Amino acid sequence: MMADLTGIVVLMLLLVASEARVGDSTETSFCTETKECLEYDLVCKNEEYEVRHYDSTKWVSADAQSYFMEVAINRGFMKLFRYIQGANDAGVKIDMTAPVIIKTKEDRSVWQQSNYTVSFLFPSRYQNGEAIPKPTEESVYLTNMPESHVYVKSYGGWMLDMTSRYYSRHLREQLDAVQASYKKDVHYDVGYDSPMKIFNRHNEVWYIVDGKPVCPAAK
Ligand SMILES: *[C@@H]1O[C@H](CO)[C@@H](O)[C@H](O)[C@H]1NC(C)=O
Repeated sequence: MMADLTGIVVLMLLLVASEARVGDSTETSFCTETKECLEYDLVCKNEEYEVRHYDSTKWVSADAQSYFMEVAINRGFMKLFRYIQGANDAGVKIDMTAPVIIKTKEDRSVWQQSNYTVSFLFPSRYQNGEAIPKPTEESVYLTNMPESHVYVKSYGGWMLDMTSRYYSRHLREQLDAVQASYKKDVHYDVGYDSPMKIFNRHNEVWYIVDGKPVCPAAK
């Protein structure tokens, strides 16, 4: 009897977990401007960073190159904004979600243009099987974020080239100090707020965990 009940509880937890990918923004304290947000499970945290688990999710992406991160992000953002405003083969509008993720090469030089990939997350109905409209603009394409563990450093204020460099270096130092292994060639700059929001802004830097995540108490 007891074993049966345990089995049922485990099954229910699994069902809940597999649904928890994109959902109601009231579930996440720092996701306040869109109806739906990317959801995650917190694996562990210390004073410096968190480890999160994300399920596999569907995104639309655009690449942009510039000497300036802010310019590239704006360019990529506008392409994706046109896509969700109807620049797709179904001619439909798609709700904005959060966060917006920017994939950034780690070794970017100030003397060369860098390549940035900006991505918007699809709302839950598209995550859960509804046909995804094809982009009509060249250089806008559909992507999949595989299920993954992520090291996360959160910060307030504005996401800029300077803050991205500062917080990514800071997180790398923390991870290296505890011999964490992670994918070192790129990081992700993650933004939750529109430029119109002034207070309580929330941004993150992510590195993808390689192998088993580590999360000891900070020394
Ligand atoms: C930019 O990055 C994307 C994704 O990593 C890649 O597919 C694309 O070829 C890159 N573009 C340039 C010009 O390097």
